[in-house]
Amino acid sequence: MIKMREVVYRYEYGGEQDAGDGGLDRGERANAVDGATFEVRSGEFVALLGRNGSGKSTVAKLMNALLLPTSGVVLVKGMDTCAEETLWEIRRVSGMVFQNPDNQIVGTTVEEDVAFGVENLGVPPDEIRARIDSTMSETGVMELAERPPYQLSGGQKQRVAIAGILAMRPECIILDEATSMLDPDGRSEVLGLVRALNKGAGIAVVLITHNMDEAALADRVFVVEEGKIAMARTPRELFSDLGAVRRAGLSAPQLTELFEILRARGHDLPRGVIDADEACSALAALARRAASQRVAAQGVAQGAVQGAAQVAAQGAAQVAAQGAAQVAAQGAR
Ligand SMILES: Nc1ncnc2c1ncn2[C@@H]1O[C@H](COP(=O)(O)OP(=O)(O)OP(=O)(O)O)[C@@H](O)[C@H]1O
Ligand SMILES: [Mg+2]
Repeated sequence: MIKMREVVYRYEYGGEQDAGDGGLDRGERANAVDGATFEVRSGEFVALLGRNGSGKSTVAKLMNALLLPTSGVVLVKGMDTCAEETLWEIRRVSGMVFQNPDNQIVGTTVEEDVAFGVENLGVPPDEIRARIDSTMSETGVMELAERPPYQLSGGQKQRVAIAGILAMRPECIILDEATSMLDPDGRSEVLGLVRALNKGAGIAVVLITHNMDEAALADRVFVVEEGKIAMARTPRELFSDLGAVRRAGLSAPQLTELFEILRARGHDLPRGVIDADEACSALAALARRAASQRVAAQGVAQGAVQGAAQVAAQGAAQVAAQGAAQVAAQGAR
């Protein structure tokens, strides 16, 4: 779906090519992307992780032809991002959602905003109408159609941005920290929608995030370090190796961290637990093992008490026998 081969990107004049989503502009020369090679497959959900300044946003903009590689090749569905004639098709195929929902609003109503991209594709008017209606209902913004976007919550604005992309029938959605400015409700609204589009409609997702609980939802996780893809693993593989996670300047999902604390305290729990179902079964198994150990321990204690009673009884019998023998001996005398 999206392939990068030995891609290098250098910001020559600091900010000249910046797409205006708040990227750094320090006027310094740097190989922001430095030989990145990877593929995002059709229908795949990839999370792009890495410390600040590692090159994630630059990679995202290269995927969408917002930036063109200094060297190397970026292919979107086989189209070279450097070829001008396919530029709009590339932008249609892979849509981008940025961090700040307010920077993406173009319409005066939600409906106008959703319509903006698809209206510029040369799609027939009745088809445009049908697409706007279906995407507004799919993304749950139909009831907001007439509202001015500035009145919406952050989560609603991001869903409107996604609806605008969906109306263009994309095959990939790239989200650059698109949930980082949202409250927990807004975050789960947007993530729920993104997951549904990925699992239900088979749209590939590239999710750039600093939130490891979000990363755990992905099929694969790419760790970006100094402009390179340093690791490409499943979330379970990555978060089973907490040493590597920490060296890359990352943390682990909250559950994984909790299990690590419990393991350090001597509880026999698996590594790399990343979701709640898995955590529940591991904890239930631990509780069952503890209960059966308690029963066994009780059995041992009971046995010991019985044994001691027997010994005591034997001792008493012996003493009694000795006493009786003495009495008998005295009687005989
Ligand atoms: N417009 C620009 N001009 C010059 N250098 C830039 C520009 N934008 C980014 N850079 C530099 O390129 C490198 C990669 O930046 P990028 O924004 O891609 O990182 P990031 O991984 O997205 O970071 P963050 O997690 O903070 O969003 C950094 O060293 C950054 O300073
Ligand atoms: Mg960034």
